[in-house]
Amino acid sequence: MATHYYTASSLDGFIATTEHSLDWLLKQEIDEDGPMSYAAFEKNVGALAMGASSFEWVMRHEDGRWGYTQPTWVFTHREITLPAGADIRLAQGDVAELHRAMIDAAAGRDLWVVGGGDLAGQFADAGLLDEVWVQYAPVTLGSGAPLLPRALDLELVEVARNRSFLCGRYRVLRGQAREALDSGE
Ligand SMILES: NC(=O)c1ccc[n+]([C@@H]2O[C@H](COP(=O)([O-])OP(=O)(O)OC[C@H]3O[C@@H](n4cnc5c(N)ncnc54)[C@H](OP(=O)(O)O)[C@@H]3O)[C@@H](O)[C@H]2O)c1
Repeated sequence: MATHYYTASSLDGFIATTEHSLDWLLKQEIDEDGPMSYAAFEKNVGALAMGASSFEWVMRHEDGRWGYTQPTWVFTHREITLPAGADIRLAQGDVAELHRAMIDAAAGRDLWVVGGGDLAGQFADAGLLDEVWVQYAPVTLGSGAPLLPRALDLELVEVARNRSFLCGRYRVLRGQAREALDSGE
């Protein structure tokens, strides 16, 4: 199992506008069953982690319905009202302390960090982020919610075009792999 950050981004590295709009993304063409699509990715996801803004966007966009069946951790410092019957826990603080419980709940499948970028960064800070999957839409936003506001080295392991999107899958380099890159080995 691995911990993935799978998201779509503008070319200039934003995953939402400053007003948390994804209209720029939803108007793009994508083959739902095509290369690196969400449908294929989601099949091996056993648990989700997301920040409060991402959770609130899903609830707005889906008219209050919760479509995920996997156990989900929503990170917030607030008491958020959760949809009835959803397998969601509110969480806060150190992601490393909760990662083990998320892995256990995922029962051998992968963990998906849905967003935002800083939450993915918190997993990376703790050395717990394995892969970053980005679907780049052909649009620039100029400002917004950042893709991944950290300094990381990554290895490009897969690339594909899915209609309007340039899709990349990257492995996060840590420890010896990062040192090897730094030393030019
Ligand atoms: N393009 C895509 O495919 C894609 C994917 C995912 C999300 N999005 C969008 O991107 C935007 C992301 O928003 P965002 O940058 O604000 O990020 P976010 O992670 O969705 O939300 C940030 C909030 O999460 C809470 N949080 C984060 N880490 C925490 C921690 N360790 N402990 C407690 N609370 C924590 C805080 O909420 P509190 O203020 O409540 O404490 C923080 O203000 C949203 O609009 C979302 O819809 C886009």
